[in-house]
Amino acid sequence: MRLFLDTANIDHIRHGVKLGVITGVTTNPSLVSKEGKVDYKHLVQEICSIVPGPVSTEVLSQDVSGMVAEARQIATWAENVVVKIPASLEGVEATHQLAKENIKVNFTLCFSLNQALLGALAGAAFVSPFVGRLDDIGEHGMRLVKEIVEVFKKYPDSIKTQLIAASIRHPQHCIEAAEAGAQIATVPYQVLMQMIRHPLTDIGISRFLEDWHKVMGEGKSI
Ligand code: G3P
Repeated sequence: MRLFLDTANIDHIRHGVKLGVITGVTTNPSLVSKEGKVDYKHLVQEICSIVPGPVSTEVLSQDVSGMVAEARQIATWAENVVVKIPASLEGVEATHQLAKENIKVNFTLCFSLNQALLGALAGAAFVSPFVGRLDDIGEHGMRLVKEIVEVFKKYPDSIKTQLIAASIRHPQHCIEAAEAGAQIATVPYQVLMQMIRHPLTDIGISRFLEDWHKVMGEGKSI
């Protein structure tokens, strides 16, 4: 499984890439707005220059021609940019149009297997089921990830679409996404920081140092 960062924060993206574990980024209008009143194009281009892989960013129009026009513009911003198109009826048609033009689409706001299927059939490069938001309404978000993985696997010749497990809220979601076979999970920075933490690791590091210094002397290094 690959890990993307779900943020538009430059410092967090730089850190994730420096760690060597983040190979892509996903943003949406809410995440971009969190960064203040920014120049959208400039921000996306900066993210694209930092990240080695795909950077998804979303259109704002809701009608087909508006989505396609915005996507065409966004696609010129950087080589690794991917356009997020919502899983609406208009989104299916826009995805189909953009796929014919070789513009990569991340079919986003997916809450059902049928939406994911239609996104894939229309030619989306990625589909993004929103796990946490399904959990929020009492449904089982990760079950949808499993279903999409299983169904896409049955049609390897016709479905090339990759799944991005999105709306990830905690480290357990990352474990479950990996177990379910999601090709990608996109995680908030906070979750990335939580993934590495374990109290026994901290205790272990302190104990090793204590034992070393007891015998070798205080402040003695290698
Ligand atoms: O990648 C989708 C994500 O940004 C949505 O997450 O936590 O707002 O449901 P959330």
